[in-house]
Amino acid sequence: MARINDNYLKLKAGYLFPEIGRRVREFTTANPDAKVIRLGIGDVTRPLAPAVLKAFHDAVDDLGTTDHFAGYGPEQGYDWLINAIIEKSYKPLGVSLRTSEMFISDGSKCDCANILDIFALDNVVAIGDPVYPVYNDTNVMIGRTGEADEKGYYQGVVYMPCTEGNDFVPELPEKKVDIIYLCSPNNPTGTVATKEQLKAWVDYANANGAIILFDAAYEAFITTPGIPHSIYEIEGAKTCAIEFRSFSKTAGFTGVRCGLVVVPEELMGTTETGEKYSLNKLWNRRTTTKFNGASYPVQKAAAAVYSDEGWKQTKEIIDYYMDNARIIREGLSQAGITCFGGVDSPYIWLKTPGGLSSWDFFDKLLNECHVVGTPGSGFGPSGEGYFRLSAFGHKENVIEAVERIKQKWGK
Ligand code: MLT
Repeated sequence: MARINDNYLKLKAGYLFPEIGRRVREFTTANPDAKVIRLGIGDVTRPLAPAVLKAFHDAVDDLGTTDHFAGYGPEQGYDWLINAIIEKSYKPLGVSLRTSEMFISDGSKCDCANILDIFALDNVVAIGDPVYPVYNDTNVMIGRTGEADEKGYYQGVVYMPCTEGNDFVPELPEKKVDIIYLCSPNNPTGTVATKEQLKAWVDYANANGAIILFDAAYEAFITTPGIPHSIYEIEGAKTCAIEFRSFSKTAGFTGVRCGLVVVPEELMGTTETGEKYSLNKLWNRRTTTKFNGASYPVQKAAAAVYSDEGWKQTKEIIDYYMDNARIIREGLSQAGITCFGGVDSPYIWLKTPGGLSSWDFFDKLLNECHVVGTPGSGFGPSGEGYFRLSAFGHKENVIEAVERIKQKWGK
């Protein structure tokens, strides 16, 4: 009989969001009349921007014509999309990138997982706590860790607590690490790292030969001037960082699927015998072997985000969600609940009222307010006692959810 990958058996629980889905299904089956408002998983609710939708339709029509039919595209993505992103999204930040440094994909979740292919298993990985569960679980799956302890920390991983005490930005580890996951704006805490904080990480990585995996999936939601949108705004980052971006939240592509990875030409790792080797070359080799490119209509739709009309319409949708974030943040604060995030990010990270555990608050919120959120402990042990609400709902639902919470917990 074929042997399985035993590493999967080390995983403590099912993936967080399906587990939440299961509990909500159980509740709605038992309470079919309850109007449940879902502010759990960060899934968008606004339709695609009209200019994006039109480009998507037009591209599908292309596929029905002999002249414009598109078969296999470049595995790395079409130049017209890559160049549009570089011009519109990186150049204004003062970041210049070559076309060969960007790889278009079918989403950032896969990229964050797939990138592990190009690194040796004996690298020491540093992960925030709480954290987007994909970083942790994919390292377990690939076999980089031992078993989890009773708290949920896996042997071999360096966990970096992100707490109120450090403004939810991890501190430099005492132990030397090789791969560092950073996410700003942060999922789940909704907080952001400043230029100075990121500079300290870039300096650490360059001094220690470490690589930063920088997840910027939520950069489009930054509203505070001066907060970096890209790790490459920090001097020295091109020799130590890979950046991930996503169209999922930025342009409503959670169902459409498109993301990107930037791997600078300057970025090097070392071979077993200590010679330098280009990570861009390795990622290109991996991409051309294991991926045939994001689909043509999806890339056309993504490119339309950077048209004048598409850009303006997309920005309006982001503003809509950020207004939801404000409503949640202000409403909950009025109810005496301590909130973080929600200013430069669509997530609000709140302290559970009355010192409830994260899952107890989840159950109470679901059962008594019919509102779904995400328990902070699902993102890691340091998330215990916290809870995440997403601002991606319909505005009327967000307003109603906040009212229900205020009625239950307001003073
Ligand atoms: C979340 O809710 O954390 C995200 O939607 C998950 C994801 O982007 O995969």
